Amino acid sequence: MATPQALADRTVKSDAKCYIDSAAGKDDESADGSQSKPYQSLYHALVQHLDKPAPTYLTRVTPKEGSADGSTWEEPAKTALKKAVGRVDAYKKKLAKDELASKKEEEERQQRLKNLEDAKKIVLREDPSLPPAVRIKLNNKSVELGTRVKVFGRIHRLRSQKQATFITLRDGYGLLQCVLPAGDLTKTYDALVFAQETSIVLYGELKQLPPGASAPDNRELQVDYYRVLGSAPSDLDAITNKVSRDQDPWDAQMLDNRHLVLRGETASAVMKLREFVELAFIDTYREMHFTKVSPPAMVQTQVEGGSTLFKYDYYGEEAYLTQSSQLYLETVIPSLGDVYCIEKSFRAEKSLTRRHLSEYTHIEGEMDFIEFDDLLEHLEEIISRVVDKVQGNAEAAAYLKLLNPSFEKPSRPFMRMKYEDAIEWLNKQDPPILNEEGNVHSFGDDIAEAAERRMTDIINRPIFLTHFPVEIKAFYMKKDPKDLRVTESVDVLIPGVGEIVGGSMRMEDYDELIAAYKKNGIGPEPYYWYTDQRKFGTTPHGGYGLGLERFLAWMAGQHTVRTTTLYPRFMGRARP
Ligand code: 4AD
Ligand code: MG
Repeated sequence: MATPQALADRTVKSDAKCYIDSAAGKDDESADGSQSKPYQSLYHALVQHLDKPAPTYLTRVTPKEGSADGSTWEEPAKTALKKAVGRVDAYKKKLAKDELASKKEEEERQQRLKNLEDAKKIVLREDPSLPPAVRIKLNNKSVELGTRVKVFGRIHRLRSQKQATFITLRDGYGLLQCVLPAGDLTKTYDALVFAQETSIVLYGELKQLPPGASAPDNRELQVDYYRVLGSAPSDLDAITNKVSRDQDPWDAQMLDNRHLVLRGETASAVMKLREFVELAFIDTYREMHFTKVSPPAMVQTQVEGGSTLFKYDYYGEEAYLTQSSQLYLETVIPSLGDVYCIEKSFRAEKSLTRRHLSEYTHIEGEMDFIEFDDLLEHLEEIISRVVDKVQGNAEAAAYLKLLNPSFEKPSRPFMRMKYEDAIEWLNKQDPPILNEEGNVHSFGDDIAEAAERRMTDIINRPIFLTHFPVEIKAFYMKKDPKDLRVTESVDVLIPGVGEIVGGSMRMEDYDELIAAYKKNGIGPEPYYWYTDQRKFGTTPHGGYGLGLERFLAWMAGQHTVRTTTLYPRFMGRARP
């Protein structure tokens, strides 16, 4: 430790002077130790001259009364100097320690690099004496234990232990635990930089799990050879740092990383379940002898009101993205009988809710020669059969259980309730459930989404809400011959989700339809083909549209509508 004397000695090595003013000085960049910009502390001044010739230190003392210039600079007192030098020595020790630590860190980094370089020298080769490997997908459970297989996939989970590295491989079909025993397999360059999402092909023998262990399908791959196909980042850029299961899917980072969110267990289970639901509809329609058709998405007609149309320019003419294929389905029932389609519909809905998507999958059915009750019967039947098929398929049921363990098939018959009775029901609540203006509901009011959802949640079972007033429903809906104030229409309401189906019987009379266009402010010209059909053998017919995402939201839990729309589309913007 430097003694005050030693420091005092050093002060004579330079002619320079360094000023310290504990009141007006600054221990920062703004000071330079000159008389006009003095430092605040002697300690700071000493640190500034650690490896430089020492100046003469001068501290400002309060002027004695009557002194001429009002200030006096003096060399610091011995005790003050001793104290400051003590602090400087402690500071120097810390510097030395830090330097040692960073040197060690650098050595370790070099060692790691060297290890990685050395690791590059380890080249794996497939042992030609082993039996040829059979390529399998990870859901293949028929392949016998003891078979040598090769599996392609990505690292879903990674655990490096002393005796082995454990990889849970994911290939979109299933998961498989792969064990790389410690040795060359775990020492290659590739193995040292394994990370979640690294894509890889692994070879080895399928084995039974050791007793007490647990892994997907109770088996594991004893790896004897592998090749990395595509590496993935670790550290800050690792997938786990970008997205996680507990994050809100609406969170900005999650929106920016939809492409990675889709790799997660929840998102992939939703996509798998969605396929099963869609296939269940297709199967059921086949059983019911409906023909699948594929109407256009680029159209010049509206179906559900002009305010939610996405307009675009069709070679100089105004055109729209379809809101519903209904008019087209009505056009083909005369030749095909009952028909359905599964197509995208588009709605420019302002509301940013989890139920309102701009682009959604619309399952629509149209039936010829039916009465309104047939439509309701059909809806109850198809919804029940689809649920049965999903629950009856082991794989689909497993996804359903993962996503929504408390899902229950609704009991039949489904509850039926007329619009008029719903108005009465809302008003009878204590306190009454009010309309959007804050008043009790009266006949003719649109039952707002909030009120409708409260009612459905309180009743807590699916409801067929029927017979809506003419004024609040679409132009094409048939009036109830027994009560001309209302239409033969139905909304299927589901607790926790809301409306999943909208359907009705269709207006049959030519003149009535022309009058309906007029009343709704629709120019009839682009609809000539739709109108014309009323002249060519009109029939009692009806149909419905079901939002697939909403149906899925019911089966798989409420977060689903969001998750199904987590495809990357618009630079992280939150539009559904
Ligand atoms: O009730 P909607 O508007 O009925 C029609 O479009 C009829 N033309 C269908 C027909 O009779 N062929 O829509 C039917 C269903 C709704 O019940 C809802 O499930 C879904 O389509 N839907 C939406 N789903 C997600 N986002 C939106 N913006 C939706 N708009 C309607
Ligand atoms: Mg509707």
